[in-house]
Parts: sequence; C-alpha cells; structure tokens
Amino acid sequence: MKSRIAILPGDGIGPEVMNEALKVLDIISQKSGIKFDFEKGLVGASAIDEYGEPFPDQTRSICDKSDAILFGAIGDPKYDNDPKAKVRPEDGLLEMRKYLELFANIRPVKTYEALVDFSPIKKNIISGTNFVVFRELTGGIYFGEKGISDDRSNAFDTCSYHINEIERISHLAFKEAQKRNKKLTLIDKANVLATSRLWREVVQNISKNYPDVTVSSLFVDNASMKIITSPKDFDVILTENMFGDIITDEASVITGSLGMLPSASVGHNISLYEPIHGSYPQAAGKGIANPMAMILSVSMMLSHSFNLLRESELIERSVDEALQNSIVTVDINKENNFSTSYVGDWITNKLVELY
Ligand code: IPM
Ligand code: MG
Repeated sequence: MKSRIAILPGDGIGPEVMNEALKVLDIISQKSGIKFDFEKGLVGASAIDEYGEPFPDQTRSICDKSDAILFGAIGDPKYDNDPKAKVRPEDGLLEMRKYLELFANIRPVKTYEALVDFSPIKKNIISGTNFVVFRELTGGIYFGEKGISDDRSNAFDTCSYHINEIERISHLAFKEAQKRNKKLTLIDKANVLATSRLWREVVQNISKNYPDVTVSSLFVDNASMKIITSPKDFDVILTENMFGDIITDEASVITGSLGMLPSASVGHNISLYEPIHGSYPQAAGKGIANPMAMILSVSMMLSHSFNLLRESELIERSVDEALQNSIVTVDINKENNFSTSYVGDWITNKLVELY
C-alpha cells in the first residue's frame, strides 16, 4: 500500500511540530510496511514570502494529488498588526478549505487523567469530559460578502448559509452521535440571527431520521458558559463556522492546553488534519511548542483517511504514556518540562515499544 500525503508545515511553530509528526509517521511506515509518499508545500506567510500568495498553485496541485493533507499552522504577527495588508496568511487556509470543500471540522475534546490538575478548571468538573465538536468550515461569516468603504469609515461582513451546507455537516454529526452517547447539541444564536433559525429548522427536520439521538439546542453565549461549568454534559456539538472557532479554543482549556487538540477537516474527497492551536509566533524557533496536537492529528489521519485503526490507537496510547510520565512541554507544566523534540522522540520511542 502506498499513500500520498501532502505536508504543509506553514508558519510559526508549524514546522517544528510537523517534524515530530513526521518522526511518528516514519515509525508507522517502518513497522507496518506502508510506504508514505510525502510532498511538501508552502502555505501561509511562508508562501507569501516565496510566491506572493498564501495558497499558491504549486501547493494546490500537491493537495490535488494527495490522499490526505497534514497541516501545521498559519499566521504571522506582521500581518495581524497591519489592517491594510492586501494579502494575509490566513487567507491561504480559508482558500484551501474552500477549494478542497473541507466542510466539516471535527475537533475532539477530552481530558487526560494525567492533566486534570494542570487545567485552571477544577478537577471534579473536567475529569471524564469527552465530547466532539462538528464545526462547519466553508460557510457563514468567514466566507460571506465583506468590504470596507473607500473612506474606511464603515465595514461589513455577511453571514449566510444555504440549507445544503447545513444538511451535509448535520448528517455527519448525527451519525457520529449514533456511534457515541447519542446526544447532539446544536449551538447557535437563534434568538437573534436568521442563519441560526435556519440551522434550527434544518437540524430539527434531520433529527427525524435519527430517532435514537437526543437533540437539544443552546444559544452560543449560554453554551460558552456551560462548556466550562459542565463539560461532561456534552457528547456531540454541532455548530456553524465562527461559533465553532471560538468555542473550541475555549474548550481546549478543559484539556489543560491548547497544544493538546487535534482536528480533522473532512470534505467529499480529501481530508486535512491539523492541530487547532495556530502558529503561536512567540514560541517559534524556541523548541518549546507542544507537538502532541500535531501528533494526535496524525492519529486522526491514520484512522479516518487510511483506516489504520490499530496504528492510530497506538499513537494515542504513546501520547497518553508521555503524559503519565510527565514528559510534557512548558504550556502544560511551567516547572518541569521538556523540549518539542524531546517530547516527540519520547513518544516515537514509546510507539516502537508498544508496536
Ligand atoms: C482555526 C484558526 C483559523 C480559523 C484561523 C487561523 C483562520 O483559528 O483553525 O481555528 O479561524 O478558522
Ligand atoms: Mg481558531
């Protein structure tokens, strides 16, 4: 078996965490006999530097030829502080999501027993949390019409959703709920937004096809409180693009660090796997970034795109072992911590041992 994987390290800490992910994939390849063909591409600020655009044709064609995409992170502060920048690294990620039709972003949130004391939230509240967020990824306010007046006194962003965009991700979320604890929570702002009211209507209709799944809805402001006060109440969360972006950063606090959360962005043909943490430019080049979310994204890739369930589980167990042995980076433990590559090597060695 041969599998082509596009490697897009991106910006900031992306290349560093990607290195560790590649170590893990090397071991999987050696042990399983599967040959992975890697092709590297530039995306984000690094692509702007080289080609003048954040998702250049070269990278697009690498993605087109691949069976799956591993992506690090995107973003550079020099663009964040320039509201007039003509081109932005983040546009590369958005273009890529749209071009590949990666409409469902799946973000699992669970606590690791070894980390419950590192979260700022009380142990009894977070211990045993296990839910997954289905975030719509190619619609809503991210992709609606936007603009600014010539005199820069007025700007607008439009949020719009077509019923088809809501339906396709809803079906995925309901199917996942059926495999889990059969609870689905729609997060919206239906007391204010027309798009949210459409989401409610569509989800209520679809729910008739999944009678075994209990559906509830929460307004996003209330939900963001409940995620922190009673995270164990959630099983599958379904939500639109921007609400999903915000609540998943919030939910990462439960796990102890933003550096722990992997994600899969699923489309009709190809899927992309990325940590949710972003480029974290302050840490870039220092060897302190947490590689676990990236490594866990590899695990998601192996199970979702290549059906390598055992390998995927072994990676998760290796990460778990690292946590239990306090082999963690500074984001998790301020006093006792290890470098990015040390943690990556440790997990890789553990994987060899468990295989
Ligand atoms: C994420 C990120 C992106 C998003 C940014 C980098 C455009 O925050 O994947 O959550 O907002 O979707
Ligand atoms: Mg985000």
